[in-house]
Amino acid sequence: MVKKVSVIGAGNVGATAAQRLAEKELCDVVLVDIVEGVPQGKALDLAEAAPIEKHDAHLVGANAYEATAGSDVVIITAGIPRKPGMSRDDLLNTNAGIMKSVTEQVAKYSPDACLIIVSNPLDAMCHVAHEVSGFPKNRVMGMAGVLDSARFRAFISMELSVSVENIHACVLGGHGDTMVPLPRYSTVAGIPITELLPPERIEELVKRTRNGGAEIVSLLKTGSAYYAPASAAVEMAESILKDKKKILPCAVLLEGEYGIKGLFIGVPVKLGKNGVEEILEIALTNEEDEALKKSAAAVQSLVDVLKKK
Ligand code: NAI
Ligand code: 2OP
Repeated sequence: MVKKVSVIGAGNVGATAAQRLAEKELCDVVLVDIVEGVPQGKALDLAEAAPIEKHDAHLVGANAYEATAGSDVVIITAGIPRKPGMSRDDLLNTNAGIMKSVTEQVAKYSPDACLIIVSNPLDAMCHVAHEVSGFPKNRVMGMAGVLDSARFRAFISMELSVSVENIHACVLGGHGDTMVPLPRYSTVAGIPITELLPPERIEELVKRTRNGGAEIVSLLKTGSAYYAPASAAVEMAESILKDKKKILPCAVLLEGEYGIKGLFIGVPVKLGKNGVEEILEIALTNEEDEALKKSAAAVQSLVDVLKKK
């Protein structure tokens, strides 16, 4: 049977994800947005590209959720980006409100779906989606680690002039300044980069990875990254839809793993038809473990703000 994916939020990330899903012919796509006409227009535009791109994925746009009914996967990108004069907490509270209303509708019409959360602040938004949907923890996950690792992989490739296909990278933690790129677990054709690059160059690449989102914002000036984020969300969706069982870093609810309890944070997981099928616990040095705990504390402080509401 043809799979169905709904993408909520037909902005930059959502529309690009819809395009990638359709062009890879992974599923039919429903694009939803609160703005009238936008999801319909973008879905129709993408459908009109189908004869040229040579795929038979069906695309529809909607403002209501009936069209999303029975989705296998729902990617949630609805939200606002930070604007001048807004505090982090303002963004948190506004997007938490949007995430709550969207998740209520999504859960009502697709009670068996896997939810891939994209909206920021990512790890905190996963908490909202998990709580509001009432879905089991294996069916709620956040996209950040795949993007952050892809950025690290791209920078390693540029540094060493090596194909990106040879490079694997591992980035744990929350999606923010405290994320934890792990050079020891980042490899070129199986060789750890710690064997290929001096520590000071690695530190530069780690810094650039941590700053990856801000680097794009400072160039674009009017928005944030969307090509790589959309690719990352679609890689997660593909692993679920095709039951590929890829190991990918995703934000998932930890219940004691890595010594962290009751918090969504990025760690390597296996993604298959049941969503998060396994959480992999890799050995960390004291320094890496400390960095992960620091990142968890930063996520916790945002979750605490939400709890006070
Ligand atoms: P955008 O502004 O282009 O699109 C957001 C869309 O959400 C807009 O079309 C807006 O109309 C829609 N929207 C707002 N409220 C809605 C509601 N209640 N129901 C349905 N749709 C609603 O923003 P963009 O660039 O697509 O980013 C979306 C979100 O994803 C932002 O919060 C951004 O910070 C986040 N993001 C997260 C990444 C990650 O690594 N987790 C990477 C890139 C973006
Ligand atoms: C990024 O990392 C904005 O979270 C987004 O590009």
